[in-house]
Amino acid sequence: MPPAKNLKVLTQDTYMGVMFSIPAGLGVRCDFCHNMEDRASDEKPQKVTARKMMAMVKNINDTQFNGEQKVTCYTCHHGEQKPAAPPAGRGPGGPGPGGPPPAGGPGR
Ligand code: HEC
Ligand code: HEC
Repeated sequence: MPPAKNLKVLTQDTYMGVMFSIPAGLGVRCDFCHNMEDRASDEKPQKVTARKMMAMVKNINDTQFNGEQKVTCYTCHHGEQKPAAPPAGRGPGGPGPGGPPPAGGPGR
């Protein structure tokens, strides 16, 4: 296989491992993100979103898990194209960082 032409986050020797993990992680096929005639193309917005997600996952693992690959696409996506919304509008841990403001707004 010729070298990839348009990698901005992943590396040449490891990116195919990531590609082959995506169908299980998100439940989508290659053509969800790729123009199958030209995989280097960024014409599909899903590919652009996925690249941001890859950078986010790398950042979380680098900064929170000593560079070990603890968080993956599957951690949030669980095989779904979009992760489930939090129950009753609550974020992780309820109101506060990562969650919505308390019901009734500030001052309660
Ligand atoms: C959820 C979106 C998504 C899916 C599904 C996906 N890819 Fe990718 N793929 C990407 C992104 C994003 C990049 C670029 C990564 C980067 O910038 O480091 C990429 C890059 C590539 C490249 C390098 C192209 C180049 O020349 O730059 C190839 C080849 C590739 N993918 C093959 C596959 C195959 C085969 C599958 C199915 C098993 C697949 N991809 C599924 C998002 C996806
Ligand atoms: C920290 C949790 C989290 C992780 C980890 C994560 N995602 Fe996501 N992703 C989300 C959320 C939340 C959404 C939905 C955003 C929305 O509804 O607009 C999403 C949406 C997406 C979408 C858009 C789906 C659509 O239907 O348009 C793609 C593509 C995607 N993620 C790819 C990935 C890939 C590839 C990885 C692994 C490299 C990944 N995500 C890891 C949380 C995550």
